[in-house]
Amino acid sequence: MSGHSPVSRGTVSRETSAPSPDTGGAIADDFAADPYSGISPLDTPIGAAAQRASQVLHPGSVTLPKLAERRVITIANQKGGVGKTTTAVNLASALAIQGLTVLVVDLDPQGNASTAMGVDHRAGTASSYELLLGEVSAKDAMQRSPHSERLFCIPATIDLAGAEIELVSMVAREGRLKTALSDQALDGLDLDFVIIDCPPSLGLLTVNAMVAAREVLIPIQCEYYALEGVGQLLRNIELVQAHLNPGLHVSTVLLTMYDGRTKLADQVAEEVRRHFGEAVLRSVIPRSVKVSEAPGYGMTVLDYDPGSRGAMSYLDAGRELAARNLKSAAATGAQR
Ligand SMILES: Nc1ncnc2c1ncn2[C@@H]1O[C@H](COP(=O)(O)OP(=O)(O)O)[C@@H](O)[C@H]1O
Ligand SMILES: [Mg+2]
Repeated sequence: MSGHSPVSRGTVSRETSAPSPDTGGAIADDFAADPYSGISPLDTPIGAAAQRASQVLHPGSVTLPKLAERRVITIANQKGGVGKTTTAVNLASALAIQGLTVLVVDLDPQGNASTAMGVDHRAGTASSYELLLGEVSAKDAMQRSPHSERLFCIPATIDLAGAEIELVSMVAREGRLKTALSDQALDGLDLDFVIIDCPPSLGLLTVNAMVAAREVLIPIQCEYYALEGVGQLLRNIELVQAHLNPGLHVSTVLLTMYDGRTKLADQVAEEVRRHFGEAVLRSVIPRSVKVSEAPGYGMTVLDYDPGSRGAMSYLDAGRELAARNLKSAAATGAQR
């Protein structure tokens, strides 16, 4: 295994963003004219690549501004293997590297997000299962990632496998996660983003995630049948919107596992952009071995191989996602 970052992210805080010779801040400053749009003054492919590399190797050197309001994003697509979990953990890591504080809620009994974030999720660990049951608070269930002081995870244990059925007979069964993640429950944590990783189904766990969030992010794999099932997903989102959560909307679509060598990938990307328009991030995640290797080491790709294309693309996607908030916050006049 190569590519482990010798750089410790654990000690970087928001306050350390001032230029200093040993953090490379001076270099980053040259590029940092517009951290919102990510557009570099050296607006060439090489300039942009250098900026991203500098960002990953010197986390905290260019920081995104704190959000006016915490954003809760559910990552959903009932198809398995489209990159939900990979996107949840890597986007979270990308946002944390750029100075924001992020909580990932693992709502898939397989616990893949917990594994990738390197947090304990053995049976008996306080997890999203006890959170849904109301037995533990979000603060008690969250664990800090060993790789970043701004990255947290509420893990999923195998207990969650039974929750889909247990929830059926519970009071307010669709709103339990929303209650567990209320402003009051998260008070004092200073979270900018809560990202919820859903299981590959449209059952009660996913409904809970959609009721707890305002935004849905749909990862779409650049493969055959990419849009298969998306119609059903959109209908479910509309149902939740109509009956349980009027503010819910598909804010973001991310193209994953893009293989530039195939015509098919371009055709899928085109079709998805036609269908979802502005919601589709310009950043596209390439198919990359490093991305798939990272979880095996309990890491996100940004920690496992910070210079890789996969890491760079998630960093870009994170920046784009954060910038969108500034636009929509400005448009709606949102106050902190
Ligand atoms: N960009 C990528 N390049 C290569 N492999 C990827 C990429 N994104 C995801 N994978 C791999 O594809 C598989 C499915 O991804 P995952 O995020 O677990 O999907 P989901 O959560 O939607 O089921 C995993 O083995 C993951 O490592
Ligand atoms: Mg998953």
